[in-house]
Amino acid sequence: MNSYLEAITSLGYGNLHPGGFSHSIKVLRGVPIASNGIILDIGCGTGKTASYLSKTRGAYVFGLDISQKMIEKAKARNLRAGTEAQFIVGDALSMPFRDEVADIVLIESLLIFLPAEKVLQECRRVLKAGGIIVDIEMTAGSSLPKHARQQIKRVCGLSEFLSLEEYTSLYENVGFKRIRVERSNLPGLLDSLKEMLYMDRSRTVTKDKMNPDLVKTLLQYKLLIFANRQHLEFGTFIYKKS
Ligand SMILES: C[S@@+](CC[C@H](N)C(=O)[O-])C[C@H]1O[C@@H](n2cnc3c(N)ncnc32)[C@H](O)[C@@H]1O
Repeated sequence: MNSYLEAITSLGYGNLHPGGFSHSIKVLRGVPIASNGIILDIGCGTGKTASYLSKTRGAYVFGLDISQKMIEKAKARNLRAGTEAQFIVGDALSMPFRDEVADIVLIESLLIFLPAEKVLQECRRVLKAGGIIVDIEMTAGSSLPKHARQQIKRVCGLSEFLSLEEYTSLYENVGFKRIRVERSNLPGLLDSLKEMLYMDRSRTVTKDKMNPDLVKTLLQYKLLIFANRQHLEFGTFIYKKS
């Protein structure tokens, strides 16, 4: 695991994607989910969205993450919150799910870390015909300076840092049909205040002192994002398996 992902795992935060929980809720409200539907949250982290979906939508929710620690935190959250999502350790590049099992695949900040097209092919495999993929990813704006793009790739351990247009091409290459794609600015102060409405009471923070190198990585990340925030965006991608 790269050191940025290791650092955020230690913190145990529930929403490690741009737009935060308030954005997830807004987007998911507009997605039709049957009460007996199957939702897969791929790269679920500490499972906050999975837990919320299990509680509010009555669907069968499965969270998958490659990190054992994230899955332990997600299970602890699920117990504390009294929700019924299931959490499994596994790789988004080779998911432990059979073909055409899911009504909804949810991804919140995962493609950015992986060979995105391969993950999308896996998502298409596990989705039923007519199933929907919902994905929220940080994207590089067209004005992002080349050296800043390189720095972000280095600090976050990314092999690519794609633009919204590059993601939409990948979705179309893989054979998804566009429902809606939305471009947003990174959250500002007002949005951060909105996030405070959703205080994370079920979060598990690792008790061990955080490794100083991980603290340094997190600080570098925060500074880089802050310095380049006017060139950064995030995309919400909603596509259908036709
Ligand atoms: C930025 S975090 C987002 C977590 C969560 N979706 C959220 O929004 O809070 C990315 C997550 O992807 C997971 N991840 C990274 N590579 C993965 C892979 N190959 N398969 C499954 N999960 C992976 C990490 O462990 C981490 O939990």
